[in-house]
Amino acid sequence: MIEKTVKVKFSGSDGYSIEIGPGMLNRIADRVCDVSKKPLAFIVTDKKVAPLYLNNVVKTLEAAGIKTETEIIAAGEKHKNLNTYLKVVSRFAQTSGAADTVVVALGGGVVGDIAGFAAATYRRGTPVIQCPTTLLACVDSSVGGKTGVDLPFGKNLVGAFHQPRAVLVDTDTLSTLPPREFRTGTAEVIKYGFIMDEPFVKFMEKNMEKFNSGDEALLSRAIECCCRLKAKVVGKDERDTKDIRAILNFGHTFAHALEAVCGYKDYNHGEAVAVGMACASDLSARIGMISQEDAARVERLISAAELPVTINNAQPRHLLDCMFRDKKCRGGKLRLVLLESIGRAVVADNVDEKDILSVIRSRIARP
Ligand code: NAD
Ligand code: GLY
Repeated sequence: MIEKTVKVKFSGSDGYSIEIGPGMLNRIADRVCDVSKKPLAFIVTDKKVAPLYLNNVVKTLEAAGIKTETEIIAAGEKHKNLNTYLKVVSRFAQTSGAADTVVVALGGGVVGDIAGFAAATYRRGTPVIQCPTTLLACVDSSVGGKTGVDLPFGKNLVGAFHQPRAVLVDTDTLSTLPPREFRTGTAEVIKYGFIMDEPFVKFMEKNMEKFNSGDEALLSRAIECCCRLKAKVVGKDERDTKDIRAILNFGHTFAHALEAVCGYKDYNHGEAVAVGMACASDLSARIGMISQEDAARVERLISAAELPVTINNAQPRHLLDCMFRDKKCRGGKLRLVLLESIGRAVVADNVDEKDILSVIRSRIARP
């Protein structure tokens, strides 16, 4: 049986379910009806996802007697901005009538974040159902309620917490994902093992080849495991205020700096996270938190996922300066997620700059 359900629970609320498996988009009408007896399903998707999956979603909803509206946004991070957000909420305003708007976010993390933020703010809160279609969105962005858009000054600078009413992870959609986008998601998949689940690291070490080939049962199992781990973290720290949710940023402070220094051209997000996780585990070893062998194990799994572990086209000092501009930097102190062991992460704010710089230097690609 490939189908799985994971529950996200918060104290004081019912939480929601993440349903995972092939064909899950067929359940969209049921999930919309769970939210409202008189719904208008407003589907937000992007130009690449629409030709693949929009028709079926519309047909399924309309066959169940649910009225639909659609907004197709341009694909890609550069469109995750206030202009796109304004178009989406304006369409909500133009189309809402007697029925209750229920937003359906059909796409990757960009669609999910914009549609989620539009839902969070339209009429001070409109229900949203997340239907992630990238591996990254399945295991990360569709779960946990972080929504938002970028500003020219930085990523995700405007946003809100808005938990979805349901998440439908249709693993069939991952078959059309370009290989590079699949690998982006794999970086986040293995991250969960490194930060909180050593047996999951072992599982991925054993099965990486099959996983890379897109094996359906394996994908469902890995996605379920990641969603369970994310649900556990966000259930304890919904608003990211307790240093619990922060561990999900393992490798991300290095990664955001690398993406920025390279002008968002050389590395996509997952590739930068891969390099960042290699740096963060090197740093953990350098300051004696884990062994060199553990750091080498992290690097081996990243490489097995066909992800990079070296830094190209960036000066170490420039990268370090950029890390200090990270939004997680507080009072001039970098807050880094490091490993105490494989499967256990902690937040550290007392790491010597010289150690960080040495680690970055040692990861610069040699010609
Ligand atoms: P994305 O949404 O840009 O999708 C990547 C590309 O794949 C796009 O071109 C998209 O059109 C295409 N695509 C999507 N699904 C497809 C499919 N099934 N078949 C073929 N093509 C498909 O990128 P992403 O990696 O999914 O998400 C990245 C975004 O997620 C970033 O903006 C990041 O900030 C955000 N994010 C948010 C959270 C959160 O908690 N909210 C967590 C992690 C990342
Ligand atoms: N992706 C980080 C978080 O959800 O907190």
